[in-house]
Amino acid sequence: PLISLRQLLDYAAEHGFGVPAFNISNMEQGLAIMNAAKVCDAPVILQASLNVRRSYAGDRMIVAIVNALADMYPENPICLHQDHGHNEQACVSAISAGFTSAMMDGSLMSDGRTPASYAHNVDITARVARIAHWTGASIEGELGVLGSLETGEAGEEDGSGAAGKLDFDQLLTDPCQAAEFVAATKVDALAIACGTSHGAYKFKREPDGDILAISQIEAIHHGVPNTHLVMHGSSSVPQYLQDLINAHGGEMPQTWGVPVEEIERGIRHGVRKVNIDTDCRMAMSGAMRRFALENPANFDPRAFILAGMAELETLVRDRFERFGTAGHG
Ligand code: G3H
Ligand code: 13P
Ligand code: NA
Ligand code: ZN
Repeated sequence: PLISLRQLLDYAAEHGFGVPAFNISNMEQGLAIMNAAKVCDAPVILQASLNVRRSYAGDRMIVAIVNALADMYPENPICLHQDHGHNEQACVSAISAGFTSAMMDGSLMSDGRTPASYAHNVDITARVARIAHWTGASIEGELGVLGSLETGEAGEEDGSGAAGKLDFDQLLTDPCQAAEFVAATKVDALAIACGTSHGAYKFKREPDGDILAISQIEAIHHGVPNTHLVMHGSSSVPQYLQDLINAHGGEMPQTWGVPVEEIERGIRHGVRKVNIDTDCRMAMSGAMRRFALENPANFDPRAFILAGMAELETLVRDRFERFGTAGHG
């Protein structure tokens, strides 16, 4: 069955585990993730971007795929979430299409790149949360700007590239403001800026020690105990996947992501939803590259895609196990 984000994360909070939220754009990613969830006995968050809804799969297709997955895997609860909506239309249309949760990211304006004022964020998020709650759907808000604490550059919000240099404290969500924001908007989950950024190119050097602003996470969690913290930009960009891609014709410059141990530390301090897209893309496309090079006579697309699915399933199983999601399906 499909469940709301609130239902799933209330349960996760009660039992102290984290839930990865994987972005999908097609049936095969959905099947690979659900195979992993079945093996691990894990609940699942599948999320789709606006680009996927509007110009790749389409709403009818994404919702049909996820409903079919729910029928095929009756033991694994699934939340279908709209990732990064920047206005009322994006969120309400997702819910009316069958999503059980949506992100109203009012930290940016409707264009998805211009930083928004706090007042705009509160106003639009409160309005969308009120509408969503009429239907039983959940809303995730965002407070703060995701960027790199290493460089002080604002990260790629929504993959589209937000504005220039920011101060460190602008990059971290303020705990007092978080409590005020949650009280004013009634969001079920809150995405916070705590040291991560979107995409494959998060850090230019191997992170030594602490990546996440743990004291910030703790303070925010303490101030909003009934609202679930979300960490975007949580791909680890593992070396083995960079190597897989680069050994088979790819050309990805060396980069570093968020180590899985850091995410585990975040979960211990209150993070519940962990957004992962880049790692899934790397696993699937890397394995397809390898298959293509190793099987030059093969021209059956299923064989390529199955190779990609197997690598994705391995990655997803690892995250379910390490985040503590396994065994809670
Ligand atoms: O943060 C959102 C996604 O990682 C971007 O995905 O390329 O489908 O817009 P997209
Ligand atoms: P990554 O680019 O680190 O996978 O982050 C994805 C994300 O936050 C989607 O909302
Ligand atoms: Na989201
Ligand atoms: Zn995100």
